[in-house]
Amino acid sequence: MSAWLAYAYPWIKAFHIVAMVAWMAGLLYLPRLFVYHAAAPVGSALSETFKAMERRLLRGIMLPAVVMTVVFGGLLASIPGVVDWHQGWVWAKLALVAGLGLFHGLLARWRGDFAGDRNRHTQRFYRLVNELPMVALIAIVVLVVVKPF
Ligand code: HEM
Repeated sequence: MSAWLAYAYPWIKAFHIVAMVAWMAGLLYLPRLFVYHAAAPVGSALSETFKAMERRLLRGIMLPAVVMTVVFGGLLASIPGVVDWHQGWVWAKLALVAGLGLFHGLLARWRGDFAGDRNRHTQRFYRLVNELPMVALIAIVVLVVVKPF
């Protein structure tokens, strides 16, 4: 690793972690907003407030955060010697990250449904899907820190 990359590496990793915390915060909080929004009557002031909160969270926090997580993660992965591509945990982590990306896309679709007063899911549904990002987060952190395989 060149001297410059050796210097940059911990900084890039720090910003990768900051960005992933912001992304995870949104992935955990947006379905929680949907739980309460699903119970708010269509056209009520409460429902309109949820619409504004959901739009700002998705566009103002989660979109920049996912872009930064992937950019800094990609930069880390491109530094020679940082990732051993023969190890299984790397691929397991990337598969889980792809799953989180898919989940992000589904949240964006459901937000659009709420914005158009077309929500099709129950509170219970959003409560259940709310658990998925936490399960993925635990698995990813164990994979990158413990590197079990
Ligand atoms: C395309 C997306 C991503 C890529 C390419 C990527 C890549 C990387 C790379 C190459 C490292 C450095 C590993 C090392 O220094 O040994 C790293 C560290 C880390 N990543 Fe990611 N990552 C991505 C997304 C995520 C996500 C979504 C999370 C959490 C939900 C995450 C959590 C972490 C953590 C906690 C570390 C620090 C591990 C340590 O201190 O050794 N990453 N990532």
